[in-house]
Amino acid sequence: MPDDSGNVDSKNYSLDTPPVKLGGYFLKGSGGYDWGMKDRLSRIFNEKSGNTVMLAFDHGYIMGPTSGLERMDLAIPPLAELADVLMCTRGALRSCIPPTYNKPVCMRTTAGASILRELSDEEVGVAIDDVIRLNSSAMAAQVHIGSEFETKSVENLNKIVNAGMKYGIPTLGVTAVGKQLGRDARYLSLASRMLAEFGAQFVKTYYCAEGFEKVTATCPVPIVIAGGKKLPEIEALEMCYNAIDQGASGVDMGRNIFQADNPVAMLKAVRSIVHEGNNAKDALDMYNTLKNEA
Ligand code: 5RP
Repeated sequence: MPDDSGNVDSKNYSLDTPPVKLGGYFLKGSGGYDWGMKDRLSRIFNEKSGNTVMLAFDHGYIMGPTSGLERMDLAIPPLAELADVLMCTRGALRSCIPPTYNKPVCMRTTAGASILRELSDEEVGVAIDDVIRLNSSAMAAQVHIGSEFETKSVENLNKIVNAGMKYGIPTLGVTAVGKQLGRDARYLSLASRMLAEFGAQFVKTYYCAEGFEKVTATCPVPIVIAGGKKLPEIEALEMCYNAIDQGASGVDMGRNIFQADNPVAMLKAVRSIVHEGNNAKDALDMYNTLKNEA
């Protein structure tokens, strides 16, 4: 039976060897899927850069009216056209996003507890019928590895992946972080790898300053990073640059975009890193120029 000593000893990351891409499909770990799944993944990830800029504004599902998202109907439309994917709840989508935008949607499907309670106590709340009715390109399921309701959250992910496999809809496995959970490479690689092994087609996790390249190397599917709490713009852009440089396939960023002084300029600066290979300093110059012009 496997035990935890494998984690202590593992060291063969082959960081200089790019991931093997099966079947000639551009996206890591995704060559074995059917046409519909690949079509949806290709709406999420840009074939040229291999990356994606997802705009996360699902925070209200646990936090209520978060700063920057008090009025989603006003905050999101200027950003929506610049994002590759909108990650949100079905309530936000139906109430605030014009269907004419034709943007790929990653639908949050798990929920259950607010920030006032134990966050890992979640259920699958959105039926696959509604995911399809809303023409979603992916589903997001949060998994709380190491938390009180770990097994239940793994079951939630399994249910979502099973439904997604039936209809060709990819699942984004989201590694939760909590006050008592780690944020180091050892924890993040454990959680990310588990979600990929359960069948998530891509994984959202957090960046860590030490050893992030091992988190991406040991996860067999693409990783996108969450932004986390609002940082000074240069720090958020450096995090974004470092994550891409160390093997991430994009960002799924919320607060560091919509809580920036100029969210549109910040989203453009992030795009320049993710899709055009800009470095953090040039992206910051771009941000400041756009902000001053506005
Ligand atoms: C929590 C989430 C959040 O809903 C959100 O996507 C986080 O985005 P950010 O940290 O960039 O504000 O998925 O796990």
